[in-house]
Amino acid sequence: MHNHPINPTNDFLFEELIGNGSFGQVYKAKGLQTGELFAIKVTPFRSRDITPKQEVEIMQRIYHNNLMSPLAIYYWKQKLYICMDLCCPGALSNLYRKLGPFEENEIAFVAKEVLQGLQYLNDFGYMHRDIKSDNIIINEDGEVKITDFGLTGRIEDREDQKEPIGTPQWMAPEVSQAQEHGKGYSHNCDIWSLGITMIELAEARLPLQFDPPETVYTFWSEQKASPQLNGNKEWSNSFQSFVQSALTMDQSMRPTAKELLKHKFVRNQHSTLSPLKERVKRLQHITTG
Ligand SMILES: Nc1ncnc2c1ncn2[C@@H]1O[C@H](COP(=O)(O)OP(=O)(O)O)[C@@H](O)[C@H]1O
Ligand SMILES: [Mg+2]
Repeated sequence: MHNHPINPTNDFLFEELIGNGSFGQVYKAKGLQTGELFAIKVTPFRSRDITPKQEVEIMQRIYHNNLMSPLAIYYWKQKLYICMDLCCPGALSNLYRKLGPFEENEIAFVAKEVLQGLQYLNDFGYMHRDIKSDNIIINEDGEVKITDFGLTGRIEDREDQKEPIGTPQWMAPEVSQAQEHGKGYSHNCDIWSLGITMIELAEARLPLQFDPPETVYTFWSEQKASPQLNGNKEWSNSFQSFVQSALTMDQSMRPTAKELLKHKFVRNQHSTLSPLKERVKRLQHITTG
């Protein structure tokens, strides 16, 4: 892995833009030596910026099947390039926008994989802080990987946790109110975001919208009820109870990733074969005609 300045175009041919997040652009790129395809995230980088530096440091230190690993890092002309495996179809949001709501067994699989990744991250001393359907990536085999460590923070850094960091629609109440209460928050803020993501997959839409985004800062001081699964469809009791538990309003009562892995909804997931593989195939069928 190089950390010294090398022009990435020496090694890759940049092709189309495949993802546009809030911080960087992700391109499909072809390795010039082998012809292999990669995903490369490009972020503006000045040595004063903390976030991109932190993102790379974390990515280089973690190693888990459910967390995206970098293959190479380049710093070149004020930009940071993170080279990763190209995952098709990519983000979960992409999968439900194109193919509609997920089935319960698919959601249970995603939940378990994300919780395993989060547990590893927590054990390592970090919380992700931006869990959402755009930051959970699916590859061709239907494997689930958490990506985008741009907002990841240390669990022990109590000062940093007085800032509301994340994306409003998925942000835990205590995170959005961090400044007002000055109490701080902890790693189970990711569990709230996972709960929102589960509803999102089940209904192919987000349960909460904040327009403009700043309205999230006052929303939870008035609103006391967590979002729930829409009652129009018959969800199992274990799925409903899982979502309810993840969306526990009181952060001191909300489970951690380790605790939630013991919930019946995910504990019953024994299959090593991803149920998402079918969905990935259907999508490939649509895109290739
Ligand atoms: N390895 C990858 N393979 C395929 N698509 C990816 C990959 N990494 C990121 N993407 C796509 O690019 C988008 C933006 O990447 P992300 O790391 O989340 O950047 P940002 O920090 O700007 O949000 C993701 O939402 C996803 O759609
Ligand atoms: Mg992102």
